[in-house]
Amino acid sequence: MHGVWGSRWTFILAATGSAVGLGNIWKFPYITGENGGGAFVLMYLACILLAGVPVMMAEVLLGRRGRMSPIHTMQHMTEEQGAPKAFAGLGWMGAVAGFFILSFYSVIAGWTLAYVVKMAMGDFSGAGAEVASAAFSDLLGSPWALLGWHTLFMAMTGFVIARGVKHGLEDSVRLMMPMLFVMLLVLLGYALTTPGFAQGFDFMFSFDTSKLNSSSIVVALGHSFFTLSLGMGAMMAYGAYMPGKASLTKTVMTVAVLDTLVALVAGLIIFPIVFSNGMEPAAGPGLMFQTLPIAFGALPAGSLIGTVFFLLVVVAAWSSAISIAEPAVAWCVEKGISRGKATFAVCALAWLLGIGTVLSFNVMGDVKFLRGTFFDNLDFLTSNLMMPLGGVAIALFVGWFMKRKDVADEVRIKNKALFNVWMFVLRFISPLAILYIFVKGLG
Ligand code: PHE
Repeated sequence: MHGVWGSRWTFILAATGSAVGLGNIWKFPYITGENGGGAFVLMYLACILLAGVPVMMAEVLLGRRGRMSPIHTMQHMTEEQGAPKAFAGLGWMGAVAGFFILSFYSVIAGWTLAYVVKMAMGDFSGAGAEVASAAFSDLLGSPWALLGWHTLFMAMTGFVIARGVKHGLEDSVRLMMPMLFVMLLVLLGYALTTPGFAQGFDFMFSFDTSKLNSSSIVVALGHSFFTLSLGMGAMMAYGAYMPGKASLTKTVMTVAVLDTLVALVAGLIIFPIVFSNGMEPAAGPGLMFQTLPIAFGALPAGSLIGTVFFLLVVVAAWSSAISIAEPAVAWCVEKGISRGKATFAVCALAWLLGIGTVLSFNVMGDVKFLRGTFFDNLDFLTSNLMMPLGGVAIALFVGWFMKRKDVADEVRIKNKALFNVWMFVLRFISPLAILYIFVKGLG
């Protein structure tokens, strides 16, 4: 019914395109800063390894076997495997989570768009911490500007989705991902020359476990799902377009390693700049926007490099946004709605909800309930509740309710011991760890 990726590499590119995005470059550094650094990074790495990777294999496996949108795949798989009916709801939860995530993702991606223009106009040449911070507050203080950028980004996202995942996505990702990587390395080179590098490095990698508290553990877990695009159907939807013969293990590992590398490098760029300029690591969502312009301001041809860099971040966000919407759009298509109409409906709804996030940074900045602003709540609800819950369900489904033979047929791990380790982690470690952290976080 849907297209199939050209090869295993296309899946890797698309899945990496989904995984690598604002989560790595914007969110990871700022939540690391807010949660005290090293101990948080360690927790995050543990979550990737013990929950992220095993669940990602399970999620892609389900998609590839079901070959439909997550909603239909889960309905079909639940029947095929005779699992409790509740599992069919997993696809629905994912589609709803997708709306929520897309709504705020597009707003933040809009900030990056704004920064492309600011960079190109040379706003930051020679800029220090004050100039960079003021520019950021100005942007956030203007709801109309944010709304404009949010609208533009959502339109860009809709445009590619409407063209179809294959043509819309493959071409852009193939070119941009490697470029983003190179740019990150250039910036890392700059960070290495700053006086704060050692301090930044230390902040990220010296583990002071006394700083760990249960709320930062929940954030680490939630982020490991967010950054790998797990638990809400994006990977399941992409798995559905994966060629049957490709190796699941290798593919998933490649994506997870690339994703983690990009996040760590982003942190190694941002924190040295923070410390070299006497800034606060816990500055919150503005961290990336207040630090990177300083780096560009100091580099030769910084305005040019900065423009290209923010463009690449836009592309990384773009390829992620597409995958966030894909589960809902694919479902509509299976229901007989044209891809164009489905895209419009999904994007329009998410756009509307996005207005809440736009206002969270200005007009409604003081309206706080539960976890904070409207944006804080959406972020918490999706990353820290819905995605981990989806992850547990996926782990339980494949670990306990799918016939072992079917699982083995799909993963085809030749090494028996390795297969057993994965199954053990999936059956016991991942669900228990996620549930434990989950309950602790709610308490
Ligand atoms: N993984 C993406 C990022 O890190 C965000 C994302 C979440 C994409 C959920 C798809 C699904 O930016």
